[in-house]
Amino acid sequence: MPFAADHRLVTIDHHIAEEEDLHPEATGDFSSLLHDILFAIRIIARDVRRAGLNDILGLAKKTNIHGEQVRKLDTYSNDVIKGALLKGGNVCVMASEENDDIILPEIGKCGKYVVAFDPLDGSNNIDANVTIGTIFSVYKRLDIKLDTLGTVEDLLQPGYKQVFAGYVLYGSSTNLVYTTGHGVNVFTYDPTLGEFLLTKRNLKIPSRGSIYSTNVGYFNKWHEWNQQYIEYLNEFSEDGTRPYSLRYIATGVADIHRTLHYGGIYLYYRDSHYTNGKLRLVYEANALAMIVEQAGGRAIDGERRILSIKPHSIHQRTPVIIGSEEDVNEAELFLKGIHPYQTGE
Ligand code: F6P
Ligand code: MN
Repeated sequence: MPFAADHRLVTIDHHIAEEEDLHPEATGDFSSLLHDILFAIRIIARDVRRAGLNDILGLAKKTNIHGEQVRKLDTYSNDVIKGALLKGGNVCVMASEENDDIILPEIGKCGKYVVAFDPLDGSNNIDANVTIGTIFSVYKRLDIKLDTLGTVEDLLQPGYKQVFAGYVLYGSSTNLVYTTGHGVNVFTYDPTLGEFLLTKRNLKIPSRGSIYSTNVGYFNKWHEWNQQYIEYLNEFSEDGTRPYSLRYIATGVADIHRTLHYGGIYLYYRDSHYTNGKLRLVYEANALAMIVEQAGGRAIDGERRILSIKPHSIHQRTPVIIGSEEDVNEAELFLKGIHPYQTGE
């Protein structure tokens, strides 16, 4: 089929250049940081595809035939990202799900950006070849002096200060979804070209969906409002809008990706086991919240916008209620006890 007359391949480099025009304050360092991130993503995408062959699936603490330590894919991805970003010289401090403490560059290799990342979200799904992902949040450092290293305070900025939020999905194809505060764009990796190509510009989430995504196995651990809300979504309604379908991959980034495309809601609220929710605020929830908001959706912890929370620790957890605006609004009414819910009995 011939290409449409306006068909234009937009590579991520073109797009980064376009985004720089939207940020007159950008100096080129930001593009340089994005290139460091892209370099790490290309390596991880390649190795995720070959994971079973490379003997990097499964448990760590094994030794391969060369007598080398065999690393799990998540610790491997962590090393790749740290290596690429530290070498690039654009970061002053980082946090990762895989590191208890902050990660610092060498003095003299310090840049003006702060990066928090989850190197491999959904790592429980790795051995079953189910979609996994990587999540990034980028901030500017608080102290603009470049002769000092960053501190934990740089990482504890509220999510609304992110200058870049993105995730990668290693699924049936590799997608990169990101925002710099001017809408959400989706790129798909073409391994034959070695390029990320723009496949969706300015992605918008439907204002309401018909899918919910939550671990219903924990129903008996949930708060009553949460149980009632899910029971409500399961019920038949006269107008045909319910019951909703349940979809749960248990890779948060994949569940949110589907929610962005089809609409609906993803919930991981407090329960009797995870009393503050399960997702990590700094390197999981904040990036996902910014992307969903930029696509026109909502992301709350039950009381406030996730992006407004001032973190107190890099590994803190947060409850997450995220997705289509009308669905999150409705869940919030249940949470506040003001939804006029009547059971069908
Ligand atoms: O990183 C947290 C996470 O792995 C998410 O990616 C995922 O949505 C969730 O936890 C799955 O948790 P559970 O197995 O408790 O449903
Ligand atoms: Mn994770």
